[in-house]
Parts: sequence; C-alpha cells; structure tokens
Amino acid sequence: SARPVIFSGMQPSAGSLHLGNYLGALVNWVALQDDHDPIYCVVDLHAITVPQDPKELRENVRRTAAQYLAAGVDLERSTLFVQSHVPAHAELAWVLSTITGFGEANRMTQFKDKSAKHGADATTVGLFTYPVLMAADILLYGTDAVPVGDDQRQHLELTRDLAGRFNARYGDTFVVPEALIPKESARIYDLQDPTSKMSKSAASPAGLVNLLDDPAITAKKFKSAVTDTGREVRYDREEKPGISNLLDIYSSISGRTVADIEAEYDGRGYGDFKKDLAEVVVDRLAPIRARTLELLDDPAELDRLLGIGADKAAERAEVVLGKVYDRVGF
Ligand code: ADP
Ligand code: NA
Repeated sequence: SARPVIFSGMQPSAGSLHLGNYLGALVNWVALQDDHDPIYCVVDLHAITVPQDPKELRENVRRTAAQYLAAGVDLERSTLFVQSHVPAHAELAWVLSTITGFGEANRMTQFKDKSAKHGADATTVGLFTYPVLMAADILLYGTDAVPVGDDQRQHLELTRDLAGRFNARYGDTFVVPEALIPKESARIYDLQDPTSKMSKSAASPAGLVNLLDDPAITAKKFKSAVTDTGREVRYDREEKPGISNLLDIYSSISGRTVADIEAEYDGRGYGDFKKDLAEVVVDRLAPIRARTLELLDDPAELDRLLGIGADKAAERAEVVLGKVYDRVGF
C-alpha cells in the first residue's frame, strides 16, 4: 500500500474512555485514516502484565473496541483488532526476546516504575519483557511510523534497535519505524481540578467526562465545572485554568478558534457559555455513546467486526512472521 503504515495500541484499562482519551488521541486516530494505513490494536496481551480480573478484562476489551468503532475507526480504511486474536504477536515476541540483551531490557524505566507501583509479587518476567512484545506488535506490520507519547519513546527506540539488529544479523526483514509526533493535540484537564490532566483515576467523578456517561450527566458535569471568581470568558492558562480548559474543549469539538468563541461570549458571563458548551459536547458524544451501546447489545455483530479485523491483521502478520522464521532457520 502507498499509504504509510502506522501502528497504535490501546490498553483495555477501563469500562469507558474519557473526553481526554477522545480529544487527545481518538480524534487523531480517526483523522489519520485519511492518508495512512493504520493498525489499531486492543492490547490485551500487554494488559495481563499487571494483575487483571478476567471477567473485567474480557468486558473492557469489548467496550474499548466498541468505542473506537463508534467514534469513527472505519474498518474499510483501518485494521482494528484484539491482540490475543493474532498469535503472531506472541510468536514474534519470542524470537525478538532472543536478540534482546538482558542489560538492554533492564534499562527500560517503565518496568522500574510499574514494578515499584505493583509490588514484588506482580514483578514478573512478562512485565519485564513488555517492551519486546511491543516491538513485535510494531514490526509485524511493516510499520513506518508510530504515534508515541513521551512514556513510550524509550520502547520505540528499543524497537528500532531490535529491527536494525535483526536485519544486520539475518538479512533485511523489518522496516525500521519512525516516531510520529502528533500535530498539536488537545490536552484536556479535570473539570473539578483544572490543573490536573483528565484521567480515569480522577479524584472526583464529577471532574471526569466519560464517553459512556448518560447525556444528562455529561451536561450536569459541564454546568458544574469549576471556573474562577471573574466573569469574563477569556483564555488565560495561569489565571483562569478552568475557563481555559473549557475553551479548549469547545474549540476542539466545534473546530472554531478560541478567539472566535471568546468574542461570541463577550459580556455574557459563564452561565451561557457553560450551557452551550454542554450542548456542543453532548451533541458530539451522544451518537458515539448510542452506537457503542448498540454494538455492546449485539455481541454477534461486535464479534463479526472484530473477526474481520483479526483476519486482516493475521494475514499481514503471518507474512512477516513467516519471513522471520525462515531467516532464523525454522
Ligand atoms: P489515563 O491518563 O486516563 O490513564 P491513558 O494513559 O490510558 O489515559 O491514555 C490513553 C490515550 O489517551 C493516550 O494517547 C493519552 O495520551 C491520551 N490521553 C489521556 N488523558 C488525556 C488528557 N487528559 N488529555 C489528552 N489526551 C489524553
Ligand atoms: Na495514563
């Protein structure tokens, strides 16, 4: 394909995605479909590197996939699938583990962080080799570019090193992927604590806007969002973090500039602004929620869609894995 291949994985780590995930990542993933060949993977093999409840994991994988589909990931232009449905990921990870230096793996800082967080009992070999599995995910598809945040940069470097090393040792096999630095993407803050990033581990549920919240709840969260004592709708990250966050959300969803929105609410106060913003957000999220619930209500249809994704992914992955096996002498 002429379109550059990108790979991105998402953790099935909560029952609902939140507005930060949506505006900060998912919207961008949907846009990338226009001129890329995206491989989007719900990474359940990665998820079990930290303790999981099996019932919750199974449910969260389906909910995560359903929300991506509902938000506009299009199976005609993208490959969306569940990692454990494509055995080549685990198989290539094994081969790559045999060319990964122990010391090299031991330098991964995310292992140290997660190990400290989850404790000695959860400090497993699987957690340690997580970055090798991530390298396999990326290299299986001839990925040209990987959208990465700062937390994954070191893992992408390892992926590049492993690809180069395998190619040098066994002959040219893998594409060495680049980092795709996303164009300015929105960073969304908590509605009750607008100096903290919106996160699934929010201190108060009122500050966290979930894609699957009932629309009435979403509207209420916006109407009671923390602002400040002034009354001007004006962007000022330092002095007015609450209003600035709401302006970013408004702008990001409507596609209008912050200046344009400020002008519209000039002299009108916070009440109107928050009421209109609630409407703008609900109008955008309600159809995504409805489509997600529809997909979750029809397990056979969701299975069918995930089956299409898994077949497409497996077909591509097996070509690369076959080449790898051949190179190493299997
Ligand atoms: P959380 O912080 O809730 O645990 P994740 O770490 O699972 O979310 O993030 C999944 C994706 O969503 C990542 O690409 C991340 O950059 C993006 N993301 C998460 N929170 C925000 C936010 N508040 N604003 C913008 N993007 C976000
Ligand atoms: Na996070």
